[in-house]
Amino acid sequence: MCSAKVAVFPFFRRLYQLSKAGRLCVPAMNVNDSITKQKFDNLYCCRESILDGLKRSTDVMFGGKQVVVCGYGEVGKGCSAALKAMGSVVYVTEVDPICALQACMDGFRLVKLNEVIRQVDLVITCTGNKNVVAREYLDRMKNGCIVCNMGHSNTEIDVVSLRTPELTWEKVRSQVDHVIWPDGKRIILLAEGRLLNLSCSTVPTFVLSITATTQALALIELYNAPEGRYKQDVYLLPKKMDEFVASLHLPTFDAHLTELTDEQGKYLGLSKTGPFKPNYYRRTRRPGSDLCLWGNYSPALTGNTTTMMSD
Ligand SMILES: NC(=O)c1ccc[n+]([C@@H]2O[C@H](COP(=O)([O-])OP(=O)(O)OC[C@H]3O[C@@H](n4cnc5c(N)ncnc54)[C@H](O)[C@@H]3O)[C@@H](O)[C@H]2O)c1
Repeated sequence: MCSAKVAVFPFFRRLYQLSKAGRLCVPAMNVNDSITKQKFDNLYCCRESILDGLKRSTDVMFGGKQVVVCGYGEVGKGCSAALKAMGSVVYVTEVDPICALQACMDGFRLVKLNEVIRQVDLVITCTGNKNVVAREYLDRMKNGCIVCNMGHSNTEIDVVSLRTPELTWEKVRSQVDHVIWPDGKRIILLAEGRLLNLSCSTVPTFVLSITATTQALALIELYNAPEGRYKQDVYLLPKKMDEFVASLHLPTFDAHLTELTDEQGKYLGLSKTGPFKPNYYRRTRRPGSDLCLWGNYSPALTGNTTTMMSD
């Protein structure tokens, strides 16, 4: 990594840790937090692929099923909306009061996991956190409960705790395991707690195109930037490039974008070619976390780049 001029890295948290420790030896772009990646890969893609992954692996019928979705970020919002649309009764758990309030306003019951764990038919984790579904919850699930993860790794469900002598594992088919308790209760664990959609369904090429375009533009920006524009730190993709990624994909829909008139541009204080929104036009994703995503506005950098505070 040290020999490279640029780094584009989806697992951005690690980059911030390296930056904080003074061990990041190249400039890096956090493409994960560009709006085109967030909305399309995390929200819209997961909204579709959660159903696809569940159907392909279990053939479960969604209507009337009680589901708990852990985490109401972009991925959780997509999963919850899809299941609600299919007639499932959806509960949501959250630690962030803003996302929790969004869940309430979207019509979901906000609960603690222990309040519903005995009754739900399906548990989906979407937090990016660890041990969200700990062994105590797995012990209390009802017979036939399906457990799966849509977050970034297999840390959200404590699968390791299920590898104990008293529990029997039965592989039903690829990516589907029954874990059986001594009293005969069984839960259905999908993809051994890894990402359900990447393990059990396909990801639409349209979404991949958007994400890949974001990454390619980030690389081009870092590679072409004059010496000194980017230091050994983590940056967000300039807003204008985010907008460019979106505009490249609009023709697919035969969509016709309205242009600002000179008068309107002047009134709003915007260039007719964008960027159309300020960098702070978005909620902070993780209030209270060590990441201050909209911290330090640096107009000197390509006019619209946000540097990340590393405290
Ligand atoms: N499956 C996929 O295709 C896919 C696509 C994009 C992102 N991801 C991954 O999904 C995860 C979530 O992504 P996101 O964009 O929704 O992130 P996000 O930060 O917007 O949402 C995660 C939410 O989980 C909440 N949370 C954290 N710990 C919790 C806990 N113990 N209980 C309940 N809620 C908790 C946070 O407050 C946050 O609102 C990340 O790990 C991301 O890498 C998966």
